[in-house]
Amino acid sequence: MSFPVNRLRRLRKNENIRRLVRENVLTVDDLIYPIFVEDGENIEKEIPSMPGIYRYSIDRISKELDEVVRLNIPAVLLFGIPSHKDEVGSDTWNEEGIIQKAVRYIKQNYPQLYVITDVCFCEYTSHGHCGVLHNQDVDNDETLENTRKQVISHVKAGADMVAPSGMMDGVVKTIREALDSAGFYHIPIMAYSAKFASSYYGPFREAADSTPAFGDRRTYQMDPANRREAIREVELDIQEGADIVMVKPALSYLDIIRDIKDRFLLPVAAYNVSGEYSMIKAAGKLGWIDEKKVMIETILSMKRAGADIIITYFAKEVARILKQ
Ligand code: PBG
Ligand code: ZN
Repeated sequence: MSFPVNRLRRLRKNENIRRLVRENVLTVDDLIYPIFVEDGENIEKEIPSMPGIYRYSIDRISKELDEVVRLNIPAVLLFGIPSHKDEVGSDTWNEEGIIQKAVRYIKQNYPQLYVITDVCFCEYTSHGHCGVLHNQDVDNDETLENTRKQVISHVKAGADMVAPSGMMDGVVKTIREALDSAGFYHIPIMAYSAKFASSYYGPFREAADSTPAFGDRRTYQMDPANRREAIREVELDIQEGADIVMVKPALSYLDIIRDIKDRFLLPVAAYNVSGEYSMIKAAGKLGWIDEKKVMIETILSMKRAGADIIITYFAKEVARILKQ
């Protein structure tokens, strides 16, 4: 049956009927808000390329956390900016490290908030790469050994979930073993499974002070040209014990999100990364787009592609709009 019997505009007539036939809706329940915590005192520094996003020291972070809780955002993802960097990123497993202190502070003062820690080394190494270097490249297995120490110290501090983002082979298996043998068998792993070597991370690297001092991350992060390889990455992480798998970045990789969603039964997370945030903010500032509407449409596209969870710097703004 076709036109004139079929007219799809009938179901677009007004907002009531559009609401009834709407296939995807955004909810605050899907959102994770990333937060940058910096070692030191009295820090509340806006990141120039990410308007509205700040680095906070622990003594100033309550303002941010009060708002997250008030908006009913279920979880935060923590990134640390340490006061000490070295060759191997040893501050990542320091009990008095910035993440460990921040997690203890948050779990003590905001017990209702779910705290996820990013597990990597690039913010903590003097060279800015995501692990231990050998011959100018990241040594996979040595980095895994340090990852054990890092996750155990995050979880001892009270982290509810860990999220390894370094793209080392075998990292999920390593973490699962480390957690289970320490009795933390109930702590889930959200794996950055399909993480691409993307230029969309630029503003984050400024925010987290984690730009590699030489070279790039293409020996460990995925080639943006590859679709089938993303499925292999996810498959391996699931075999190794991942509880949630992630695709990152989100916007230029919606096809990957859909592939993973159709193929596997685990929850899929999408990371709406810094560059995606900055582009919308910049165009909005210039008055070239309607920032709020483009923001909602963009986040919705991730949901439509199949994301169950969306990690986004827009989380508070989206939650505010959904609350109205
Ligand atoms: C570190 C890490 C990065 C991001 C999250 N964890 C940057 C990178 O891999 O260089 C990017 C997040 C963003 O751009 O918002 N491994
Ligand atoms: Zn890293």
